[in-house]
Amino acid sequence: MESMTKDDTVRLRKRHIGASCKLFFKHDPIKIVRAEGQYMYDEKDRPYLDCINNVAHVGHCHPTVVQAGVEQMSVLNTNSRFLHDNLVMCAKRLTSLFPSPLSVCFFVNSGSEANDLALRLARAHTKHHDVITVDHAYHGHVTSLIEISPYKFNLPGGGGKPDHVHVAPCPDSYRGKYRDTDHGLDELGRKYAEDVKHIIAKARGGGRNIAAFISESLQSCGGQVILPPGYLKNVYRYVREAGGVCIADEVQVGFGRVGKNWWAFQLQGEDVIPDICTVGKPMGNGHPVAAVITTPEVAQSFANTGVEYFNTYGGNPVSCAIANAVLDVIEKDNLREKATRIGNYLMNILRQLMDKHPIIGDIRGVGLFVGIDLVKDRESRDPATAEAQHIISRMKQEFILLSADGPHRNILKIKPPMVFSQKDADRVVTTLDEVLTEMKQSGIDILSDGSPKEGSVSPSERRKLIEDSIEDEPHGKKQKIIKDSDGIKI
Ligand SMILES: Cc1ncc(COP(=O)(O)O)c(C=O)c1O
Repeated sequence: MESMTKDDTVRLRKRHIGASCKLFFKHDPIKIVRAEGQYMYDEKDRPYLDCINNVAHVGHCHPTVVQAGVEQMSVLNTNSRFLHDNLVMCAKRLTSLFPSPLSVCFFVNSGSEANDLALRLARAHTKHHDVITVDHAYHGHVTSLIEISPYKFNLPGGGGKPDHVHVAPCPDSYRGKYRDTDHGLDELGRKYAEDVKHIIAKARGGGRNIAAFISESLQSCGGQVILPPGYLKNVYRYVREAGGVCIADEVQVGFGRVGKNWWAFQLQGEDVIPDICTVGKPMGNGHPVAAVITTPEVAQSFANTGVEYFNTYGGNPVSCAIANAVLDVIEKDNLREKATRIGNYLMNILRQLMDKHPIIGDIRGVGLFVGIDLVKDRESRDPATAEAQHIISRMKQEFILLSADGPHRNILKIKPPMVFSQKDADRVVTTLDEVLTEMKQSGIDILSDGSPKEGSVSPSERRKLIEDSIEDEPHGKKQKIIKDSDGIKI
């Protein structure tokens, strides 16, 4: 099946691909040669259960999606300066899934392009420049977005926070600044929102003006964070009172992943409507297509600048055919209903593991967006970073792909293709149970004081485990984390 040996692929990659482009499992990377549904197959045709690929939303290589792309590619592909039905139909269908007044679309090629354009729209509309972002957020790889992504700019080589960016505390009720141990959920929503209000007041006091508040509607890189109730409603009000607009980044969590709604911002209430919403990843099921959805008013302000928006590939007939096919499959296969059903089932059986394994501090999620927060101690909630990396490596050996994220990289993320089944959920939880039991029995369990017990893994082995983990985007906080949790300097 493989056209090149895995070693040759590794060698060529090392020679010709920039070192900052990281691999999952650096010490033993996986070579994937094909995929179908929720399975990815390596060069030996071994199937890995994919629990992390929210891009392959309706299942890897879904035949309906593939066929739509192939058919359109064999007829026409060109830019959006020509009339084409695929473009207008895609815009009509997509906007029909949003609450009014979100009815105007711009098509782009990636989540980064979508968020960069969202900033341009916000600045054109408000004539302000500054942006409020949420701590630990990641919004994309282009310069304008690295500037508003604490996940990146806070790295040792990350360049730091620019003056026009203001960072709000991550509204994480489990391990954030305000916690569920001290406050009720509604109070948490209010308190975290009030912090944004203070940030706005401080910025304005210093002569600055807010163009936009941007946040994911569920924070993914930040550690599968579910926003407390009332948070967005209050934040959006404060931002609008200051003349800014509100951007919901749904690049990871949109298109029905949360089950009951198409968009995760809707979890915060029917009256919570952003001015601009960005979507991407799942939109093309792996094909690069993304979009910005906004109000006629914001779109008009952008048009009033007199500067044409032209994007060579954005909205091309092939991308739009694919995006339309993805919408067809979500609807036809009832994938939103499935996300709710399987997601609830998964969280229930995961919660049953909590009695047996004190390392599981919290299980949180909505639909097929689930996080398992691993702790050294339930009281202190100290993150179990090394353990998370060990679990990921062991799950890989069992042919299950999981990843860890959050500022301490201790939160196991589960965000599989939406075709993920009850049987898959059972397999993941049974295997996780076995791995956690084995960790206890072999003494890798380091819950009590954070140091490896006699006969447990050595510090260098733990370092390898951490380096070898799977990552969504290059994370790079390793140095700090390893020092924090293990006292090992890299
Ligand atoms: C929340 C969020 N926004 C934006 C992006 C950028 O999307 P892309 O990688 O398609 O440019 C990402 C990518 O991981 C993301 O997670």
